[in-house]
Amino acid sequence: MIRRIHHAGIVVERLSTAYAFYRDVLGLPLLRQAEIADQGVRAALLAAGDSEIELLEPLRADDGVGRFLATRGEGLHHVCFDTPDVASDLDDLARRGVDLLDRQPREGLAGRIAFLHPRACDGVLVELATPPSHHDDGQSQVRLKRLVIGSRDVGTTSARFQALFGFPEMALNSGPRSMLAVGRGALLIVPDEEVGGIDGMVALSLVAEDFPALMQRFDAAGVKAMRGTGEVTVEPQSSHGVHLHISRYE
Ligand code: CO
Repeated sequence: MIRRIHHAGIVVERLSTAYAFYRDVLGLPLLRQAEIADQGVRAALLAAGDSEIELLEPLRADDGVGRFLATRGEGLHHVCFDTPDVASDLDDLARRGVDLLDRQPREGLAGRIAFLHPRACDGVLVELATPPSHHDDGQSQVRLKRLVIGSRDVGTTSARFQALFGFPEMALNSGPRSMLAVGRGALLIVPDEEVGGIDGMVALSLVAEDFPALMQRFDAAGVKAMRGTGEVTVEPQSSHGVHLHISRYE
């Protein structure tokens, strides 16, 4: 039922300062911005290849996203999967006894949306969205490829995502890891001890079409990052709390 990772949602203090990195330095085109009153946020979607990045600025300190910012700071908040019929998926998940935050779809920035309860997906907050029209691919120079998830028990978490959403497992060369295909993107589930004991979303992997130009923009903006050959890891202080791995190749 799932066609792709629609977006990764990131909580930020202010959209305007987050644009300075995600739009101006990383080069992700802004698709739209709106105030979503019932989620208590001002939200923006930026194109990232086959997927998008959603930035969420809380409007209030005392509800969901505002409390997240106050207690955990800026960083990854949820992942959204694109489905052709969110209402029928909710019916199916409810029949199977899956914990849902929304029993009926509602209007969100990505279209008709609904959230599962984080305990349904081992601490990962999952949103489902049926977008209003077909996705317009290919405007961005940087593409989202993978969401990295830390887990105390990789096998159990992988099996849960496979059972809930039908994601096929991809072969991996080594280690106690599991990679699940989601359209042209993927979820990479790793043992939490590899990622500082974090259970849940820990990082995004992206691919840059023009890596040297991106590195020039990093230098000009003073982005803090660990440079390798053909890959770079951005320090979360420069990317609003998100570990970003960006590579030159797939
Ligand atoms: Co979202």
